[in-house]
Amino acid sequence: MQQISSFEQYQQQYKHSVEKPEEFWAEVAGSFVWTKKWDTVLDWNFTEPKVKWFDGAQCNMSENCLDRHLETKANQTAIIWEPNNPNETFRSLTYKELYEEVCRFANALKKIGITRGDRVCIYLPMIPEAAIAMLACARVGAVHTVVFAGFSSSSLSDRINDCDCKLLITADAVYRGEKKIDLKKIADDALLQTPGIKNCIVYNHRDSPVLMMEGRDIWWTDAVKDCSAENVAEAMQAEDPLFILYTSGSTGKPKGILHTAAGYMVYVAYTFLNVFNYRDKEVFFCTADVGWVTGHSYLVYGPLLNGATTVMFEGIPNYPDHGRFWDVVDKHKVNIFYTAPTAIRSLETYGEAVFKSKDLSSLRVLGTVGEPINEEAWHWYHRNVGKENCPIVDTWWQTETGGVLISPIANVTPLKPAFATLPLPGVQPVLLNETGEEIHGNDVQGNLCIRFPWPGMARTIYGDHNRFHQTYFSTYKNYYFTGDGCRRDEDGYYRITGRVDDVINVSGHRIGTGEVEDAIDEHSLVIETAVVGYPHDIKGQGLYAFVICTGTITDEESLRKEIGKIVAEKIGAFARPDKIQIVAGLPKTRSGKIMRRILRKIAEGDTSNLGDTTTLLDPAVVEQIKAGAL
Ligand code: WT7
Repeated sequence: MQQISSFEQYQQQYKHSVEKPEEFWAEVAGSFVWTKKWDTVLDWNFTEPKVKWFDGAQCNMSENCLDRHLETKANQTAIIWEPNNPNETFRSLTYKELYEEVCRFANALKKIGITRGDRVCIYLPMIPEAAIAMLACARVGAVHTVVFAGFSSSSLSDRINDCDCKLLITADAVYRGEKKIDLKKIADDALLQTPGIKNCIVYNHRDSPVLMMEGRDIWWTDAVKDCSAENVAEAMQAEDPLFILYTSGSTGKPKGILHTAAGYMVYVAYTFLNVFNYRDKEVFFCTADVGWVTGHSYLVYGPLLNGATTVMFEGIPNYPDHGRFWDVVDKHKVNIFYTAPTAIRSLETYGEAVFKSKDLSSLRVLGTVGEPINEEAWHWYHRNVGKENCPIVDTWWQTETGGVLISPIANVTPLKPAFATLPLPGVQPVLLNETGEEIHGNDVQGNLCIRFPWPGMARTIYGDHNRFHQTYFSTYKNYYFTGDGCRRDEDGYYRITGRVDDVINVSGHRIGTGEVEDAIDEHSLVIETAVVGYPHDIKGQGLYAFVICTGTITDEESLRKEIGKIVAEKIGAFARPDKIQIVAGLPKTRSGKIMRRILRKIAEGDTSNLGDTTTLLDPAVVEQIKAGAL
């Protein structure tokens, strides 16, 4: 794969990719191992929608991540694992070792009856076994669905059941900072409600006592015992599913976003190489968890497809102290560092002392992802981490897009703080107005849509293609609607302004207001709830819940605690509301619709101009809510 090395070359490639997309992507795809070449590069329409890339081709992700590198990189480090506790020894796996571990585990999967197309749920901490399990699934053609280990047992069982997984892979326990999380216990609770699960493979990470159910639960070491370190990868059809990853939307239950074998592979490899300007033998450190799409695309697949060394960090940024990320960079001589703005803002509050005696001179490129980065945080990152020597790539993308769509290309695109800048080759963004017309020219703002397919895009929502159509392709006919608002400035640079729907971005975690409302409504005293986002200095956005309860509440404080606990149980601790206000009523229109606009204003603390409230059923509730605002 050729790397873009100048802005002129980017402009040429971009032009070529728009004029002749099939030619462009066929050329990129040429650098992979294909069991069989494609018949057609692209077949698509955004009405059904139907998108097929490289149809007729056969390939395997795991083979392209591993086998392909053995000849030249067998002894190069593929994964460096940095443990939660810095005093424990770190692990590293060479490409050869990773290949063997993956083959062994792939053979273990086959032995217990996992075959092409079966769904396998992975609920593991940030340990190499998470990547091994993903790659082994890909190798045998099973579809993995990784569930972030911060999700509760009911979120886990919902996901397992939604895509009907046969196998769950988990670990005994994990420490994050000083907090111990008993993963197998959480999994056991989930498994009470998952009739489809036949087996559970348990990795012994911390020697923590667990219950093993006979006939169902198998230790990882027993599963791989006697398994050969050789395995022939299944030749997958280009459009066979590779993985499902659940993400939240405005309404309803989480959606199982489905990505397929060939297109996703080509797209993440291409974007990793170019966005980060990755150079051979460099060490790449992405701080995201494998449970999110960033972990899939740029911790595991993108780096390994490029034969890079990827750092997997088990811990948290503030343990044992607030300089931990910089310790990891220093210790492993990281060249490219990729994190979320929320982490930067949080570290900013501890001042510059955390950099003392840390050698960050190995750093060459910095990246951010997950939410808009404010200019101040951008400059802090640039100055203190990059020592004004490293370009920052502000990468805009989504679970649904598979890989980065709008971003600077490191050392190529002239930067502008807080701007995702320009679309990558192959990406055709447009801004649409309320009535669905394209807004042309510069210095404009609108809803961000994409008008042409790219190989890494999601193909469907597992089991519900109609919902896929409804959510992304019905707001605007013949466009993919991202749900984000966006400005295009006088230079044609893109700046993402945030979601225009009811999705809230808390510390880079995407949370649907509906999900949190449903969880709160489960409390026996709660009648109705409305959750909105409000600006939060560190998290980007915080969650503000307005709750109507029955009867008179005497102890509001303990009620708030109980409500927070329910959300942690139903979804996960990260979705616990920051503020809970008990209210007598909610502002509703005569047709019964909650006017969230008003609640958002109150949550922001801006009550001076609430706009027109005359259409409300009972305007007096607004005054009551204002008076009790937190
Ligand atoms: C939403 C997608 C893509 C990996 C992590 C999040 C927001 C993402 C940026 C950015 C401004 C961003 C958008 C998007 N977002 N990156 N660089 N600047 N906003 O994936 O959970 O699917 O969330 O995150 O609002 O729609 P996700």
